[in-house]
Amino acid sequence: MKAAIAGTGSYLPERILTNMELERMVDTSDEWITSRTGIKERRIVGPDEATSDLAAAAARKALEMASVDAEELDLIIVATITPDFMFPSTAGQVQRLLGAHRAAAFDIEAACTGFIYALSVGELFITGGKYNKVLVIGAEVLSRFVNWEDKTTCVLFGDGSGAALLVPSEDEERGIISTHLHSDGRMWDILMAPAGGSRMPIDERAIAQKLNTVKMKGNEVFKVAVTKLSEVVDEVLQENGLGEEDIDFLVPHQANLRIIQATAKKLKLPMEKVIITVDRHGNTSAASVPLALDEAVRSGRIKQGDRVLLEAFGGGLTWGAALVRW
Ligand code: ACO
Repeated sequence: MKAAIAGTGSYLPERILTNMELERMVDTSDEWITSRTGIKERRIVGPDEATSDLAAAAARKALEMASVDAEELDLIIVATITPDFMFPSTAGQVQRLLGAHRAAAFDIEAACTGFIYALSVGELFITGGKYNKVLVIGAEVLSRFVNWEDKTTCVLFGDGSGAALLVPSEDEERGIISTHLHSDGRMWDILMAPAGGSRMPIDERAIAQKLNTVKMKGNEVFKVAVTKLSEVVDEVLQENGLGEEDIDFLVPHQANLRIIQATAKKLKLPMEKVIITVDRHGNTSAASVPLALDEAVRSGRIKQGDRVLLEAFGGGLTWGAALVRW
């Protein structure tokens, strides 16, 4: 049995923050941001919005596409590094907002690779025969966890959410073909938020030094990302006995256009076959892959029968991929 994606959904907050506005906030330029990252603008939540609000909005659209009621859900998995609370889980909040009272609910944390991890876990619950309707969501409010005075990080991130509903596939040819998860905790400190956990509680010093916000050695992350994504893409092709020509669409994590172009080149894929949203969304961490996937599905680019390769890389360090037959 395979797990298939029966519906996708996404949500973006209304407020658009452009590179021009950032030029007035920190010592940066539209030219620098565009040439280094491909980002032109990103979305920022309103004062009353939290991660679960974004997640529930994307989830409702995925349920609607699949014609499934929230009461039918067996499990909700939310991938996020920007939860509503330290505890309880954001997935529990989504359950409450949807009225999905039958569902079990928990969060997964694998930074920008979170959606790939959550998809992989959701797939196992379906193929193991335990559940029939599993909602997998990536949702982030990164704007509340970046230092808006640090030009090396604040220009990169945005808020948003994306969701996918997993069901058992009636057609053996369709669904999740394989998932590939990796992690290397030795490089934990090149992309992280130092304060706010048990190792460094938030105190006056942490607040003064903004240690509860994202810290990134961007250059080091960039190099590892290009190498590991190239490796994982090879792994997907080899394990499935496929060639580059068998991939119809690449839905990459939207961190940086240059990283995306390097992976597309590795796959010998023309850029028309690569779904790009980084220009409009920035890096929305766990939300970026499902957001891009939903755009490609709703616009009709991804069609039944297409082989779609999803990949991501992020803090942990973590990286991974999933191959899906639409
Ligand atoms: N505006 C203007 N100048 C800037 C800015 C900015 N916003 N940010 C940095 N600079 C300057 C630096 O100060 C430096 O100046 P110097 O040469 O005078 O010292 C110069 O630009 C070059 O800095 P680098 O960090 O070397 O720039 P780089 O070309 O590596 O680009 C970037 C930085 C865009 C962050 C890139 O390294 C990158 O995309 N890294 C990967 C990010 C990523 O994939 N993250 C993973 C997922 S995130 C997650 O898991 C939450």
